[in-house]
Amino acid sequence: MGRMQDKVAFITGGASGMGEMMVNLFTAEGAKVIAADINTDALKAKWDTKENVEYLKLNVTDADNWEEAMKTAADKFGQIDILINCAGISTEKAPEDITLADWQRLHDINSFGTFAGMRAVVPYMKKAGKGSIVNISSYTALVGMGFNPYSASKGSVRAISRAAAAEFGKDQVRVNTVFPGVIQTPMVANLESSKAALEGLIKMTPLARLGQPEDVGNAVMFLASDEASYITGAELVIDGGFSAR
Ligand SMILES: NC(=O)c1ccc[n+]([C@@H]2O[C@H](COP(=O)([O-])OP(=O)(O)OC[C@H]3O[C@@H](n4cnc5c(N)ncnc54)[C@H](O)[C@@H]3O)[C@@H](O)[C@H]2O)c1
Repeated sequence: MGRMQDKVAFITGGASGMGEMMVNLFTAEGAKVIAADINTDALKAKWDTKENVEYLKLNVTDADNWEEAMKTAADKFGQIDILINCAGISTEKAPEDITLADWQRLHDINSFGTFAGMRAVVPYMKKAGKGSIVNISSYTALVGMGFNPYSASKGSVRAISRAAAAEFGKDQVRVNTVFPGVIQTPMVANLESSKAALEGLIKMTPLARLGQPEDVGNAVMFLASDEASYITGAELVIDGGFSAR
């Protein structure tokens, strides 16, 4: 029997990178998964024929869309045990080029999206008397890496996750956060200036390599699972030791 047997997991950003990896890892351990993303073409291409995966379009900045998505998931599977808030965007703009609109867009998706997701799922988890939420922040929320809205939005994810853990523990809803370092996903591949910067980062990383989506996916699966039943409000850094230096 898999570690995720009989669990229903709702995973945002489920069309790419870490979210995609989590869909695969969770289903391999017996979960039923709802992969949600704004990119419906990628969702269809990846999950149309995959057993135990339903996919749906979700814009995480749209609170009504969140309510509909949770209802769809609950109607389909009768429960939502796990929410993984993994959808996110980054920016490559220099600080002097960041506009208020850029700042707001990063915060809308990374920060409000995480808040709105928790707000939408908690009633279902409260009703069930249990639930597990894992939010994806970033090492840039912890160390000075990036004078830009990305690190600020991920700091916001950290703060709202702790608040949620404190608030919903009495309902047996656990909320934990992971802080990935640089992970080889399309998000990083799409950064034009990445090559030299990434080599520099590897040199500064004790484990001397970039992270892989499964490095994060396996840690998220542990936090989401019943193996972590006394863990809430935890902050797990997955960065090859980068921030320990
Ligand atoms: N890759 C890294 O180095 C790294 C490091 C730290 C944290 N993170 C975080 O990890 C998470 C996953 O990143 P990834 O590297 O897998 O990126 P990715 O670009 O491969 O995947 C992100 C997914 O989020 C989706 N998305 C974007 N905006 C959305 C919206 N408004 N509504 C719904 N879905 C939306 C995208 O369509 C995409 O499928 C993100 O929150 C990212 O900020 C990434």
